[in-house]
Amino acid sequence: MAIIAELLGVGLALASGAQRVQILDKCDVRLERGEFVALVGPSGAGKSSLLRVLMGLVKPSEGEVRIDLPRERGRRNIALVFQDAKLLPWRRVESNVALGLEGLGLTSLERRSRIAAALDLVNLTAQIDRWPHQLSGGQRQRVGLARALAVEPELLLMDEPFGALDAITRSSLQDELLTVWRRTNKTILFVTHDIDEAIYLADRIIVLSGTPARIRGAFQTAKRPHVRSNQDTFRLAEEIRAKLGESSQLIEFEI
Ligand SMILES: Nc1ncnc2c1ncn2[C@@H]1O[C@H](COP(=O)(O)OP(=O)(O)O)[C@@H](O)[C@H]1O
Ligand SMILES: [Mg+2]
Repeated sequence: MAIIAELLGVGLALASGAQRVQILDKCDVRLERGEFVALVGPSGAGKSSLLRVLMGLVKPSEGEVRIDLPRERGRRNIALVFQDAKLLPWRRVESNVALGLEGLGLTSLERRSRIAAALDLVNLTAQIDRWPHQLSGGQRQRVGLARALAVEPELLLMDEPFGALDAITRSSLQDELLTVWRRTNKTILFVTHDIDEAIYLADRIIVLSGTPARIRGAFQTAKRPHVRSNQDTFRLAEEIRAKLGESSQLIEFEI
């Protein structure tokens, strides 16, 4: 399979006051085209930092980032979705989705058709003229996803996108995301601290933890379609939890 993005021995040290803090250490991550990969780790581990390195927003202090995507108008076709959809309250749904398309040199017809296609993918066609305050939390998050999809990215990075939603909304958005993934063949790196969510969504799960954070293991999930919970998912969740536990012991020893 073709590799779309790769981190090779990536380390990241950031300034914190007068000190430099090592956030990531010797991280190797490889994403194959079309794969759905989840990155799990406790809060504060360095998951968002790893995404920022992949996006090219921060330069790693060690190692290398390789992205096999052509540059279009100086930027690579990678989109990032956050936990909070970051919608502009004074813009309707349509022009919030249009935000990511500015500067791409599209005609207004192309722009409208991209927006319509993205809203259709997340089932929000009927809400195109609404204001953000007229949407539920789940709908707002779907606008955020539509904005990312409208760019037609090859690689979609998602940073705990469903973390702030209630359980019912979260599970329906998980199913919608799987449908989008199947229909568009995108490569997705999905960050979450929810192990069950990772097992349900991903083909492969990468565990990041410790101080500094390292990749502690990688796990393949069952063949699709995935079920929400059975003995196998339970066992896998236990294995992943054990990996996370090992690295927290490691921290104790290092201290
Ligand atoms: N700009 C920064 N300067 C210094 N430390 C940072 C900076 N950004 C994040 N950190 C620290 O890096 C660690 C990892 O943060 P983050 O990548 O946001 O973790 P996660 O997304 O897994 O919760 C945290 O300890 C955080 O305080
Ligand atoms: Mg984070």
